[in-house]
Amino acid sequence: MAFTIAIDGPAASGKGSVARRLAEHFGLAHLDTGLLYRAVGARMMQGEEPIAAAQALRADDLDVPGLRTAEVGVAASKVGAIPEVRAALLDFQRAFARRSGGAVLDGRDIGTVICPEAEAKLFVTATAEVRAERRFRELIGDGHDTTLAAVLDDIRARDARDMGRADAPLKAADDAEVLDTSVLTLEESVAAAIALVEAAR
Ligand code: C5P
Repeated sequence: MAFTIAIDGPAASGKGSVARRLAEHFGLAHLDTGLLYRAVGARMMQGEEPIAAAQALRADDLDVPGLRTAEVGVAASKVGAIPEVRAALLDFQRAFARRSGGAVLDGRDIGTVICPEAEAKLFVTATAEVRAERRFRELIGDGHDTTLAAVLDDIRARDARDMGRADAPLKAADDAEVLDTSVLTLEESVAAAIALVEAAR
């Protein structure tokens, strides 16, 4: 039987790293669903109509470089508020979740909308200040010129858009385990996540 782990949480909460490490640990395939919205957002930035872009999206489109920039993240959160875009991306995500070997999916609505029947659900979060600090260090490390205040503003704006949208807003599923990583290192977060998944098996 397929074993599905659903991981949701806000931007820079550590959910992506936790998802990747859980997939390695349990030997499961991993889908970062933010990349789907980023790929559609990138196409909108090039002038394409987002709903048509979402309907035409193929797995290969997730491999293109440049999807992880802050600008594409903003475009992703705009197209993510369009119900027809979300509907067009649903089947791809559900098919991935049902792979025979099992899968880890991370995003905003995996435990609530995409995989309500997932065997394990985690909601990975941290305070906006801690998330901004982590993202700021990453950006500076990659040679970007920005300030902590600007990054915190971006995080807050993205949270408001993701939590405030009418269709599939970011929120923990009722049966999700909440993992607050504010005072945890990555290794501590991964160990806690593995323990929560083991307990759900
Ligand atoms: O996780 P990531 O930062 O790559 O996601 C970019 C944006 O895509 C999010 O801010 C959110 O608006 C949207 N998204 C979504 N549902 C998902 C994954 C991402 O709406 N499952």
